[in-house]
Amino acid sequence: MARTPFLHPFAKPANEHWITIVRGEGAHVWDDDGNRYIDGMASLWYCQIGHGRPEVAEAVARQMRAIEAYHTFDIFTNEAAERFCELVVGLAPIDGRVFLTCSGSEAVDTAIKLARLHFHLQGQSHRNLIVGRNLAYHGTAYGGMSAQGLPLNQEGYGPLLDGMVRVPHDDLTEAETLFAEHGERIAAVLAEPVIGAGGVYPPEPGYLAELRRLCDGVGALLILDEVICGFGRLGSWFGAERYDVEPDLLTFAKGATSGYLPVGGVLVGRRTLEVLEADPGYLLRTGFTYSGHPTACAAGVANIEILQGEDLPGRAAPMGRRLRAGFDELLAEELVAEVRGDGAVFGVGMLDGVDAVAVRDAMLRRGVIARPIGATTIAWCPPLVTSDTDLDTCVEVFGEALREVRTGS
Ligand SMILES: Cc1ncc(COP(=O)(O)O)c(C=O)c1O
Repeated sequence: MARTPFLHPFAKPANEHWITIVRGEGAHVWDDDGNRYIDGMASLWYCQIGHGRPEVAEAVARQMRAIEAYHTFDIFTNEAAERFCELVVGLAPIDGRVFLTCSGSEAVDTAIKLARLHFHLQGQSHRNLIVGRNLAYHGTAYGGMSAQGLPLNQEGYGPLLDGMVRVPHDDLTEAETLFAEHGERIAAVLAEPVIGAGGVYPPEPGYLAELRRLCDGVGALLILDEVICGFGRLGSWFGAERYDVEPDLLTFAKGATSGYLPVGGVLVGRRTLEVLEADPGYLLRTGFTYSGHPTACAAGVANIEILQGEDLPGRAAPMGRRLRAGFDELLAEELVAEVRGDGAVFGVGMLDGVDAVAVRDAMLRRGVIARPIGATTIAWCPPLVTSDTDLDTCVEVFGEALREVRTGS
């Protein structure tokens, strides 16, 4: 295939080779040549319930037949959005309300805005610093892009947002100094429970609790970005429970609908709600045309019902144990350098000189999809419905691909 009118995200604009995915069922997808792949990445870290679930298609069709969409600005609402938010609040690690968006990037940017607003409305506009972490990924809108810790994603896009500070992802010394010197100016810390797109780095023991303690010490907010971790990926509904830390704001997307339709959101905790709700005349001036889109929310409701009905968050830990055992064998065989992960999400570090993209390509030829992160890591994040047989095939094919790339055969 040649270049097409579609300019792809996170792709080489000059690329002329595409894999056209035409169908999906469970943990499998098919291309237009009839090749079947095991989807070792749940598409892009999102398809918890597996592909092609008729329950979601039917819920979406039902909603479309009633009314496809109606906006939710000001006084309008719809049953699907209300039900979806009710379900999310019921599962959430903190009491609160849900602000709906259409993506993780919008959720993160909204959370940053709400954190700053939280202090502005209390006469503390000077309190606007957002503390991010190295290697963090928070999407591609200007807020999340400015807060993240992957410099290549910031290159060329002009001045970033003011008031963003970064600290190491695995060491708190710099954060402690920052809080000691500028604590009164910090609005919020923004952290993924497990760093995902930056390479899959679970938190060091006690790290997130310590961030919470630092925030509490100066009255700052803690925002957990659970766009990947949320909705069962780590074995609990949210990473907050997994690591026993309570955020003030929590962002989600991806697994919230398993990607059947795009929905993201910010769970807004009581502390911020009290500020927002204090003046009955106050108008919150932010939101997206499709915030609370009923058809997208109907997909979210059906997705959560499947996650609950089949206890799919409960599948993450056993899946992860099986994958880790396999990856550890590759480590013992000295085919990989490092295995990182938690729940059912992993980053496997390549040995020096082994290109993760070549490994990905060698796996594709054998019918398994995983995702290279730069040249140094292969990420795994399979749907929570993946069978043991398919998980074993993923590991087996990974080993074959690593051997092929190492020997150049
Ligand atoms: C932790 C995190 N935050 C934010 C985002 C951005 O989400 P989206 O691509 O839906 O805008 C992502 C996407 O991978 C993510 O992993």
